[in-house]
Amino acid sequence: MLPFTPVRGAGVYLENAAGRRVLDFYGGHAVAALGYGHRDLSEAIARASRDLVFQTNALPLAIRDQAADALAAFGPPGLGRVFFVNSGAEANENALRLAFRVTGRSSVVAMEHSFHGRTAAAAAVTWGAAKTWYGFPRAPFDVTFVPRNDAAALAAAVDSSTAAVIIEPVQGLAGAFAFAPDFLHAVRTACDRQGALLVIDEVQTGMGRLGAPFGAQLYGVRPDLLTVAKGMGGGFPCGAVLMPHTIASGLKAGALGTTFGGGPVACAAIKTVIEVINRDNLLANVREISAAIRATCKVGPVLDIQGQGFLLGLKTRPKAAAVRDALLARDILVGTSADPHMLRLLPPLILAKDHVQRLAHALEDLTDAPL
Ligand SMILES: Cc1ncc(COP(=O)(O)O)c(C=O)c1O
Repeated sequence: MLPFTPVRGAGVYLENAAGRRVLDFYGGHAVAALGYGHRDLSEAIARASRDLVFQTNALPLAIRDQAADALAAFGPPGLGRVFFVNSGAEANENALRLAFRVTGRSSVVAMEHSFHGRTAAAAAVTWGAAKTWYGFPRAPFDVTFVPRNDAAALAAAVDSSTAAVIIEPVQGLAGAFAFAPDFLHAVRTACDRQGALLVIDEVQTGMGRLGAPFGAQLYGVRPDLLTVAKGMGGGFPCGAVLMPHTIASGLKAGALGTTFGGGPVACAAIKTVIEVINRDNLLANVREISAAIRATCKVGPVLDIQGQGFLLGLKTRPKAAAVRDALLARDILVGTSADPHMLRLLPPLILAKDHVQRLAHALEDLTDAPL
């Protein structure tokens, strides 16, 4: 663990008990979409917990309907129905379950270097999990991993046994690797040709992080199922699967289930996060500030910058972990990734130009540092 213990936060700053303030470019793994101490979010959560701290989805809730409507309106067209869960892995687990159920097929195609979560099905479609931390005796279904941006390998892998292709539009843990738009379109085409469902995992890329509501809209690729979590509740744990009416209406009672998913406090947080993103033009802010990062932060140990919006990978000459530690010593928090030479930035969507300047200066400061 890193040597900094936050006890509170304000805006894009974290603070420890001694009053040391750290500028947060990591956003708690892309979760703190609105930063810390956001008044609208804190009030919505407090109000919802006072009104009704929890109710099961066996009962209807107005706030759940409002959150579902807001999420469906924020998402790509055609995905009008929402199933709320508690995490990204649970969202992917249920999206895959739906794909098997709808198609009656038995296998999935996933991408090399993917990360989709740690539960049995989500981890089965996660690159490298089987050889490292998977832990279950076997995967619950067959999975073919395709090299990134290899349209020919993809076309060969998707066949009449494929229930779904699952893909992150920009791979997060891999170090903010953005797929070529042509490849994403080729995935759609391969799914259409073989009758497989396209599951777009937007757990990390969604909720405005790419400067569009979701990667699906940024790249103009239509998902059959879309999964979301992380920033959706601004820090309150929650996730969701977005699906079309055609799939939702075919589901019998009990086909999907969860105890905590769609609880009133989570739904109040979700509704508020979407309202604030829209009201405060945070998508435009992400695009503008991301461009500023690209223009000014290729300095010092940083050789190149990849990714989209506020999911950026900074390619470093020294080990990324050494640069991260040196930045933290200068009161700036950044993340690492599966690539040992790639730092990851996942800042709150409210990040501003002066914060970028601070990062650029700190990186410049490291030009001759022995890292
Ligand atoms: C793309 C992607 N999918 C799924 C997950 C899993 O989400 P959770 O940790 O909420 O289960 C993550 C988490 O990092 C992720 O980045």
